[in-house]
Amino acid sequence: MPQSGSQLALLGGKPVGKVEPPRFPVFSARARRRVAQLLEQSKVLAFDRNVPEVREAEHALSKYHDGRHVLSLSSGHASLQMALAGLDITDGDEVITSPYSYAASTSCILHQNAIPIFADVNRNTGLIDAKAIEDRITSRTRGILVVHLYGHPCDMTAIMRVANRHGLPVIEDGSQAHGATWKGIGVGNFGAAAGFSCMGGKQLAASEAGYLVAKDEDTYWRASLYCQHEGRSTEEGFPDKFLPFVDSLVYTYRITTPDAVLLTEQLKKLPREIEGRRQNIAHLRSRLADSKYLSWPQHSKYGNPSHYMWTMNFRSQAAGIHRDTFLKAVQAEGLPMANYLSAIIPASARLQWKNYRGPRPPWLSNLRRSKVVYRSQDVPGACYKFEHALELLFRFYKPMPKAMDRIADIIYKVEDQIDALRTYEKKNRS
Ligand SMILES: Cc1ncc(COP(=O)(O)O)c(C=O)c1O
Repeated sequence: MPQSGSQLALLGGKPVGKVEPPRFPVFSARARRRVAQLLEQSKVLAFDRNVPEVREAEHALSKYHDGRHVLSLSSGHASLQMALAGLDITDGDEVITSPYSYAASTSCILHQNAIPIFADVNRNTGLIDAKAIEDRITSRTRGILVVHLYGHPCDMTAIMRVANRHGLPVIEDGSQAHGATWKGIGVGNFGAAAGFSCMGGKQLAASEAGYLVAKDEDTYWRASLYCQHEGRSTEEGFPDKFLPFVDSLVYTYRITTPDAVLLTEQLKKLPREIEGRRQNIAHLRSRLADSKYLSWPQHSKYGNPSHYMWTMNFRSQAAGIHRDTFLKAVQAEGLPMANYLSAIIPASARLQWKNYRGPRPPWLSNLRRSKVVYRSQDVPGACYKFEHALELLFRFYKPMPKAMDRIADIIYKVEDQIDALRTYEKKNRS
């Protein structure tokens, strides 16, 4: 516990000390042995379920997703794009999505030559708002893509109600929310399709991988047509009606056998590791109960998150300093919190097609034709969240009360010295 009133590290004082997450991901001895064996035997290619490692991984993931169809792929982005392809959402179709996310949830729409339409998020949680979605539905809307950001599930009751009322498919981006539930149901099991990233930093981490979850079998087969040479046409059950469309005019989004094995083996530890994350957050929550300038986003009691990131909102007015000054101070003490997003998505230079003069993305002319204009002021909730959020990539997958205590010590030390930070900010502004 730092002494009350001790000088901030940012101003030359002694830092509280580095907050170190454990090494992550950790691969079991069995996973490492199996991967080594595949490499020794030169078995690295994985076209479809005729390869035992792919069959095994997809079977395990399907079980995890209440028996839905699973297509393993090379990344989260690929899985989201293939979810759209599987639902036949493409050329000029509008897809409503979140302006506040890692931008792969938007680029997957652009890469299908479809048009992203942003519905605002709740300014407190950063999660897409069902009412805002409904307000953006037009006759051109073909889908709704929601992001379970930070590991917190969206309000799937309200979102599915809106989607069903308008007969629209929902695509869930569960890339940050493996194992999170809404009213006891796992994310990915609500919509027509879902995409998950399993890159090496996610709760379910391989090296680079992802997977698609499909409610209907046709979505699975249609997506398979686009993800690799000849789709999955050699797999048992491939429908005759899709045979004329089997070719190599495709993306190469295959998984590898080592990654398929990692998915199978990592999935076995996932529930335990999510529990560890939850315990740490609960500890942190009780330690930070007296924080003056950080507030916890108000999430629904129906969601059970899996904590990819820890996110708080900074009460800049009450503190009398900008969020970034607070961030600098906690970073100097040893806490690697950050403002995770570099911008809200509608502000991206490449979406400003009227004035865009840079290297041309393939979807640019389609956006121009659509005439949709992207403006930050249309999504004030996202702007607010962007200005106030503090985030920590939360890799604390096993109970680590001492590390949580150190986080709390840092926050309290900086809050105690808020006057000094106000002076610092004034001096550095002029
Ligand atoms: C919300 C979200 N969607 C999509 C992705 C894309 O996943 P990948 O990096 O595996 O393509 C990520 C990954 O970081 C993500 O956080």
